[in-house]
Amino acid sequence: MSSQIDPSTLPAWRRLRELAETVGKRTTAELIDERAGALTAQMANITLDYSRQRVNSDVMHELFALAKQAGVAEQRDAMFAGDAVNSTENRPALHAALRGSLDGNMNVIRARELAQSVLIDMSEFADGIRTGSITGSTGKAFRTVINIGIGGSDLGPAMAYQALQPFADPEITVHFVSNLDPDDLHEALDAADPETTLFLIASKTFTTAETMANAHAAREWLCSALDSTAVTSHFAALSTAHAQVEAFGISSEQTFGFWEWVGGRYSLGSAIGLSLMIAIGPQAFGRMLDGFAAVDEGFRRTPDEGNVPLIMGLIGVWNRTFLDIPTVAVLPYAHRLRRFPAYLQQLVMESNGKSVRHDGTPVSYPTSPVYWGEPGTNGQHSFHQLLHQGTDDVACDILIFAHSRGTDQQQQRELISHALAQAAVLARGRSASDVVRSGVEADVAEHRVMPGNRPTSVLIARELDPFTLGALIALYEHAVFVQAAVWGINAFDQWGVELGKQVAGDISASWGTPEDANLNRETLASLSMIRSYDT
Ligand code: F6P
Repeated sequence: MSSQIDPSTLPAWRRLRELAETVGKRTTAELIDERAGALTAQMANITLDYSRQRVNSDVMHELFALAKQAGVAEQRDAMFAGDAVNSTENRPALHAALRGSLDGNMNVIRARELAQSVLIDMSEFADGIRTGSITGSTGKAFRTVINIGIGGSDLGPAMAYQALQPFADPEITVHFVSNLDPDDLHEALDAADPETTLFLIASKTFTTAETMANAHAAREWLCSALDSTAVTSHFAALSTAHAQVEAFGISSEQTFGFWEWVGGRYSLGSAIGLSLMIAIGPQAFGRMLDGFAAVDEGFRRTPDEGNVPLIMGLIGVWNRTFLDIPTVAVLPYAHRLRRFPAYLQQLVMESNGKSVRHDGTPVSYPTSPVYWGEPGTNGQHSFHQLLHQGTDDVACDILIFAHSRGTDQQQQRELISHALAQAAVLARGRSASDVVRSGVEADVAEHRVMPGNRPTSVLIARELDPFTLGALIALYEHAVFVQAAVWGINAFDQWGVELGKQVAGDISASWGTPEDANLNRETLASLSMIRSYDT
């Protein structure tokens, strides 16, 4: 690829470096107090309140200028047009086609048609499972669905299944098995009846070691309980690799395809979402896709000042690259979003944990922060100590829902009060003089000081329903895209995870054979320590 512009040479980048030394050194409280009002933007009925970020109008102006100078809009349009934006694999990234958000050239229209036709097949199958018209080999309706997959073939549906639990059919239980550790599969199998269990083998490549090991173990379990002919009705595949699926013994009627232009971490709206669709039904799944589509549309058409994913992405660049804040804590004040931080870890860090630009030149600036988090209020009783008084600055995303689905709105108000309290303390902290004024002895007052000044965004929505969940995910997807576009990196490959898979294969293959002499010294030493437990 021809050499590209180093974003750190752009005029807006230089100006932002200067602003980091001035505005960036001011406190959040000062910046809030001198503003006329809140800094907010809304998209798909989700409000982003970024008043507690360490920004002012100069910073926002230069961030928008940076986006312009780095060609974010052009790169966005190229993605939506189906250009090969995944430069190292020479592929488009057309996940927006899954939610019907594309128009334009023939490739894109074709992608959309393909996505539609698989969605129809998935809907028929999901309805068949839900109504009991599709049954297991002994004629019983399926009551347990076990999705076997890992990474993007697990995290999205697993997170969304929890998030949308009130919309799920209570008669059907879905388990998500991802870990190579056999305990994961056994926990699911222990609770399952072979006659009423459907396995979904979710793997784009159908070669992923963890998934294939669990799939084979599941097939053995089923065949020993029923017989080998049961595989046809009790297994379905969600994959792009039709030949491998067939070799495993899954029929083409029970194979739901997707395509290489859907990256694993962007695949919830594809066949990978089948477990979720079975749980919540095709209609609710469609509403989730509508939520994604509303944000796709908003990202493409909304001017900068109201463009929520653009603002989220640029604030991420400001915090990470210019204020040097290494991590982002994701704090959903929603029990049902307890897997959302884990989901975002793959989305953000597998996308933007890169250190060379598209043309292979090294970046001279930090890229993806580390994402982590837990739902509130649980985190308040553990790591919030570090958020408030630790030595590292941490940026926070607090997620609030105005209404709970349950009837106890009073408890929901208490939950929201905690979320707002954390946002306030993160922003303003508490000075030593305030501590002393509150009656604390001066010699211990320092232990109760909180610096505040932790940059925080608050995302607010009405309630956690399928539309909102789709919109929320799409906001983060596009924010990640914006950051990659500014940093000049490829958000759609993941070469960093490959070497470990290969080395694991080498270790496993040579284990206990003369070949293990070829392993490196420290691996051999560890292996002999492990083997010492054999006796
Ligand atoms: O190891 C990384 C990865 O390739 C992810 O990007 C992907 O989501 C996951 O593995 C699962 O891959 P597959 O769906 O091909 O089994």
